[in-house]
Amino acid sequence: MFNERLARVQGIVQTALDAQVASYPPSQLRDAMHYAVQGGKRLRGFLVLETAALFDIPTQQALPAATAVEALHAYSLVHDDMPCMDNDDLRRGMPTVHVQWDEATATLAGDALHTMAFELLSHAELGAPERRIALVAGLAHASGAAGMVYGQALDIAAETARTPFNIAQIIQMQNGKTGALIGFAAEAGAVIAGEDPRGMRRYAAALGLAFQIADDILDVEGDEAQTGKRLNKDAQAGKATFVSLLGLEGAKNRAAELVAEAEAALAPYGPKADILRELAQFTIARKH
Ligand code: IPE
Ligand code: IPE
Ligand code: MG
Ligand code: MG
Ligand code: MG
Repeated sequence: MFNERLARVQGIVQTALDAQVASYPPSQLRDAMHYAVQGGKRLRGFLVLETAALFDIPTQQALPAATAVEALHAYSLVHDDMPCMDNDDLRRGMPTVHVQWDEATATLAGDALHTMAFELLSHAELGAPERRIALVAGLAHASGAAGMVYGQALDIAAETARTPFNIAQIIQMQNGKTGALIGFAAEAGAVIAGEDPRGMRRYAAALGLAFQIADDILDVEGDEAQTGKRLNKDAQAGKATFVSLLGLEGAKNRAAELVAEAEAALAPYGPKADILRELAQFTIARKH
């Protein structure tokens, strides 16, 4: 059931992303944006739509928020792959945007996907203006200098730090670069419904950390054809990860503990939250 629901969300979110990109004037920039939003697991969009469903919000109402999170995530990947960051040439099984075009186009396509995310959050389907403003504030906070961009900055700083990051520093970095956006995705449904989003916070915190640990494990023992990206890059670049600090087994154990923690945090929602429990399992079992 989880796989079918994820596939359904992938289709819906892809169509919405393509439609939003198609609303801009034809240009090389637009082609690069279109390219950058193809594929991906759509776990963040899934999280928005499934937590919205938990609060009885229909998919069509929450869809602009799911699409916004995926647009923002796509921008973060385009910039993450650039030569000044991780210098990667493969993403989602395709050449990265700066390889396919050039660095200026990748910078600008990322910029425009970033603003596209906030344009999507202004869409009327999401409901009353106060709720849309809360979504805008939430996504901005999760993405910027307290969230994703902050974590990315710590990630880059760790490459040249004189002493290796300790566990607290790695958690702080991962909470930023991955956790914050996942946290926003998990809370967006409650915000749209006008419910207290804090109930999802413990689930999202554990899920986000488990997700990034799984990404770091895949970098070590994943398969390039399945992940669609170059692997064994973190150690090479001197990145600080759970794997670099705890080793593979330690990282796997920590990820499994976090999934149990995420599942436990859903207790108040009962069986209605089963799909979110399956998502937590998928997060560490995934091969891509
Ligand atoms: C990869 O994210 C980058 C991280 C934040 C770890 P995903 O693994 O969700 O990438 P896609 O969207 O499925 O390609
Ligand atoms: C990237 O983390 C997180 C972002 C905010 C984009 P990684 O650099 O580990 O992601 P991958 O492994 O390139 O997908
Ligand atoms: Mg990176
Ligand atoms: Mg990277
Ligand atoms: Mg990685």
